[in-house]
Amino acid sequence: MLKDKRILLGVGGGIAVYRAVELMRLLMKQGAEVQVVMTKSAQEFVTPLTFEALSGNKVHTDLFDLTEQHGMGHIQLVRWADAVVLAPVTSNLLAKISHGIADDLLTTLMLANEKPVLIAPAMNVSMWQADATQRNVSILKERGYAVVEPVAGELACGEQGAGRLAEPESIIQALLPLLTEQTLAGQYWVINAGPTVEAWDAVRILTNRASGALGAMLADAAAVCGAKVCLIAGKGTPQTRHDVQRIDVERAAEMLDACLLAAQGADVFVGTAAVSDYRFSETLASKLKRQGSGSIQVELVENPDIIQAVATMDKRPHQVIAFAAESENHVAYAQEKLRRKGVDAIVANDVSNMGANTASGYYVTVNDVFKLNAQDKALFVRQLVQHIINM
Ligand SMILES: Cc1cc2nc3c(=O)[nH]c(=O)nc-3n(C[C@H](O)[C@H](O)[C@H](O)COP(=O)(O)O)c2cc1C
Repeated sequence: MLKDKRILLGVGGGIAVYRAVELMRLLMKQGAEVQVVMTKSAQEFVTPLTFEALSGNKVHTDLFDLTEQHGMGHIQLVRWADAVVLAPVTSNLLAKISHGIADDLLTTLMLANEKPVLIAPAMNVSMWQADATQRNVSILKERGYAVVEPVAGELACGEQGAGRLAEPESIIQALLPLLTEQTLAGQYWVINAGPTVEAWDAVRILTNRASGALGAMLADAAAVCGAKVCLIAGKGTPQTRHDVQRIDVERAAEMLDACLLAAQGADVFVGTAAVSDYRFSETLASKLKRQGSGSIQVELVENPDIIQAVATMDKRPHQVIAFAAESENHVAYAQEKLRRKGVDAIVANDVSNMGANTASGYYVTVNDVFKLNAQDKALFVRQLVQHIINM
C-alpha cells in the first residue's frame, strides 16, 4: 500500500533510534521511498552510516551543508515528501516543533513542511507524562499531526510505564490513512468474515474452509479510507488494524445476533462470512462414543439467513452487500439471490477462491454486472471498495 510513496523519516535522539532503522526497512519493504533526517543527538545513538547502508540514500544531518543546499535542501526535502514520519520523537523535539523553533535541519524543515505528519514519541514515562510534554503533544494534535502514542512496558531506563516507541507495524498502520484519500470519512461499515463453527458434541464441529482473509482485508481497506468499521469475526479470521472494532463469534446464531446489533443504522453492511446453512439439532455435552452399529443418523436444522435478516431489519444499513460462492452460472445465480434476499449488490465469486490468496468474480447490482478480475485479494478488495463507493 506504500508503493511509490515518498516518506521523510525524521529521527530524534532517544534510545529507540535503533527501532527507526527497523521502521525504515519496513517502509521500504512496503514499496516506499525513504529519505532520513537525523538530529545531532540521534547520531550519538546510531550512526548515519547504518541508515545510509540500508536505504542506499544519503542521510541528511546538517542545515548548513553546502551540498545539501545545492542538492536537496531543507525546503526541497519537504516538497519532495508525501508525508513526514518522526520516530522516535524526543521530548525536546516535541517542545521545539510545537513552538516553531528552527535551530537544526529537522526542526527547520518541520516549520517549512505542509505535508501530513505522523509522530511517534518515545521517552521515559515521567518525561512523557510531564505537563509540558502533554501540552506540546496537544498543540501538535491541534495542528493536525497524527500521533502514535508510546506503549507501556519496561523502559530502557529500567522503569515501567508508557514510554516505549510503538511497534513499527503500528506506526505504518497509522501512516496509511494520511496517504489515502478519506473517501469514507463519517461512514460506518459493518463486515462479517470467516467461517462459522457449529458444535456436534464436546469435541466435534461442523465448519468450512473460509479463512476470513478477504473480510479482514476489506475491514482494513475501509478503515484506511476513513470509515468507522466493525468486524464480526468468525474463528481464525486474521487480525486487522487496531482501529477496526472486532467482535469474535463462533456459531451462526452468535454471528446473527452480533450483526443485527452492530448493523443498526450502518451505512454499509458487507457479508463476506461463510455461514453454515445448517447446525446440529442437538449439541451433546460430552464426547459421543463409537456406537459400533455401522452408521448413525445425525439431524441438521437450518440456520437463520444472516444476510436476509440484515437486509430486512429495522434501521437497515443503507447498502447491504452479500457474497455468494458459486461453482457455475455465477451471474445468473447472483441476480436471482439479489432479488430473493433484498440486498443491494452481490459479489459472486468462485468457490475456488475460498482459502486462496487470489480472488475473482462479479459485482452484481440490480442494473449492472461488473467483472472483478482475478488478482491478489488485497487488490480485489480495493476494486470492491471502489464499486461500493460508486454505488
Ligand atoms: C542515554 C540517553 C537516552 C535518552 N533517551 C531519550 C529518549 O528515549 N527520549 C527522549 O525524549 N530523550 C532522550 N534522551 C535525551 C535526549 O537525547 C536529549 O533531550 C536531546 O537533547 C534530544 O535531542 P533531539 O531532540 O535534537 O534529538 C536521552 C539521553 C541519553 C543520554
